[in-house]
Amino acid sequence: MTDTINTAVETSAADVVADLTTEEKASLTSGADFWTTKSVDRVGLPSILLTDGPHGVRLQRADSDHLGIGDSVPATCFPPAVALGSSFDPELLERVGTALGEEAQAEGVGVLLGPGINIKRSPLCGRNFEYLSEDPIVSGVLGSALVRGLQSQGVGASLKHFAANNQEADRMRVSADIDERPLREIYLRGFQRVVEDEQPWTVMCSYNRLNGVYTSEDPWLLTKVLRDEWGFEGLVVSDWGAVNHRVTGLVAGLDLEMPASAGRTDAQLVAAVQDGTLDEAALDLAALRNVELVQKAVRNARADATYDVDTHHALAREVAAASIVLLKNDGVLPLAADASVAVIGELARTPRYQGAGSSQINPTKLDNALDEIRVLASTEVAFAAGYGDDGSSSDELTAEAVAAASAASTVLLFLGVPAAQESEGFDRDDLELPAAQLELLDAVLAVNANVVVVLSNGGVVRLSGFADRVPAIVEGWLLGQAGGGAVADVLYGVVNPSGRLTETIPVRLADSPAYLDFPGEHSHVRYGEGLFVGYRWYDARDLEVTYPFGHGLSYTSFEYADAAATASAEGIAVRVTVTNTGDRDGAEIVQVYSSVEGSSVVRAPRELKGFAKVALAAGESREVEVLLRRKDLAHWDTRVDEWVVEGGTYTVSIGSSSRDIRTTATVGVEGDAVQAPLSMNSSIGELIAHPVAGPIIMQAFTGGVEGDGGANPAGAIMADPSMFKMMASFPIGRLASFPGMPVTMDQVERLIAASNGQDA
Ligand code: BGC
Repeated sequence: MTDTINTAVETSAADVVADLTTEEKASLTSGADFWTTKSVDRVGLPSILLTDGPHGVRLQRADSDHLGIGDSVPATCFPPAVALGSSFDPELLERVGTALGEEAQAEGVGVLLGPGINIKRSPLCGRNFEYLSEDPIVSGVLGSALVRGLQSQGVGASLKHFAANNQEADRMRVSADIDERPLREIYLRGFQRVVEDEQPWTVMCSYNRLNGVYTSEDPWLLTKVLRDEWGFEGLVVSDWGAVNHRVTGLVAGLDLEMPASAGRTDAQLVAAVQDGTLDEAALDLAALRNVELVQKAVRNARADATYDVDTHHALAREVAAASIVLLKNDGVLPLAADASVAVIGELARTPRYQGAGSSQINPTKLDNALDEIRVLASTEVAFAAGYGDDGSSSDELTAEAVAAASAASTVLLFLGVPAAQESEGFDRDDLELPAAQLELLDAVLAVNANVVVVLSNGGVVRLSGFADRVPAIVEGWLLGQAGGGAVADVLYGVVNPSGRLTETIPVRLADSPAYLDFPGEHSHVRYGEGLFVGYRWYDARDLEVTYPFGHGLSYTSFEYADAAATASAEGIAVRVTVTNTGDRDGAEIVQVYSSVEGSSVVRAPRELKGFAKVALAAGESREVEVLLRRKDLAHWDTRVDEWVVEGGTYTVSIGSSSRDIRTTATVGVEGDAVQAPLSMNSSIGELIAHPVAGPIIMQAFTGGVEGDGGANPAGAIMADPSMFKMMASFPIGRLASFPGMPVTMDQVERLIAASNGQDA
């Protein structure tokens, strides 16, 4: 904050705006520099600080650059979203959000730029480490938890990147060309949930275009959908440098351009007001939202806020451990404290714990797995680097690793994607681990089959080349500053793993849904897979996967029984009894997928609609209830441009992954009444199904026609089932060219108008 006397903070925002000149209003709608808004000292309106985000507070020191190359104030580096998502634990994420809020308060930050909840459309997206899932319910539920925690501390969130920023290639220009249903049901659904449930103080528009229009200047996205439909009350900020045309953006609903435009675009706004091309009311509105944001930040600021570095480090470790996914375990894990172990791989000593780009945090501390393993082990633990910092290897490093592997009974082999391959700003070329690491794996396996592979990666890697040759695989993602301790905790059973995949690990890249349409060409990317994103695709195509969405093992086992589902106005309440059948305490992620028998619309075979994390002591049984919200059952009906719940029999499939369904229940759900308007292009079948037009048409077609002596040719057709079927698909308007029909086109037109509730 500036040291201006904050008189404008005590006044109503509308009064403040009423007192401002056109120039002052325009100035409020763009930043003062990289990270602050402009003050208006004349009226006592201070500036506020917005900073990255999302998994830590990246407060850059003065004179620093934008993209994180420069130094930033030390802050807790919590696990990035790729890991947080895998915890499937909203309560834990809310605690992370709260801790982020505490740190932001301590640094005087008003808005933290996150969370990022874009869908992981392709496993190649360079920024997948910053996103939560390939599924919109997971992204929405967990994104909400982060916003809830952060804002509980009086710090604003910036929900980003709105919308359809699913690749880094050409991100500043590319148009994501998406059909209405996948756009609504997959790419916007998570944003909608967070906005409706949590009212983030700000939403950050993305760099890209959506169906040809820059999101920074799309009135459909920023006003109709975000505000009119979802009820967003906060401020829309541009991604840094996302503004294409300032005046168009402002009219569309973009309230704040970041970072600074050196007054250039402010002057464009003033000129547009003066020459009458911009209605000053639009500028007033944007200025009002900026004043409101500043007021919120200043009123909630806690000048004396501090946080405890050690407590937050401990939280980062707890969260990291809950985020690790045990992909495979033939019984080699957990390790006994006195197990004979060799740790191999530079990543055990020099961890990769976050991705590169604007989210890069300068951590308060940094643990590594090797040291933490040595703390938990009661015997000496040998170490060999195996490969260098950049992932390359040498005969000497390999020889040392092989010697260490030969001398131990269990090898903990740390493999991962080199930092240079995963960053904001570009995508990966493939899903492969470095060749040198895979050669090292072969060399180690040749002398010791008991190899536990521990992975460090921000996006999924192909495991199909070795998954069946090693007894255990631990997916360690990028785990933040305390990840080393968390990995040790899981390996030695201090923590029983409960993380689950929020994205599918395919057998090969070519199997993945967006493979043929990623990253597009000539600044257009067509989302040709439509609704079939992630597991929806692999399931619909019945493709083999290495590890399915939702998969993750525990050191104990769980059984499911007594599933029941009841429908109500709220949705479907699913109950199931889960029992920990092993001899260790543990936690299960109960996943509930839905499908609709004989659905009239295109659907994936199973769609996740709810989940719950349940902690159970060894032997304990508990009834778990998961509510599938009715609005989450809806599909976007393109005929009426509305969410519609289809009526019918719903199957809820409850299980431990998308491909490990343990029990099912069925329930009847009453559908929404939806009536697509009739036209002369409506089929006879559609007219027959219409409550007003239907009986009249049936009477006309099957009843006698006056003056024809009882012989209605249409009657004979309607009586023959196969002829009826043929006729049912016939557009009513086309009947005009057929003689002898029982209705005139004038009558049909009047009937259609009456059925649509219009005057004939
Ligand atoms: C990123 C945003 C980030 C902003 C500010 C942009 O390049 O896309 O996620 O919040 O920079 O650093």
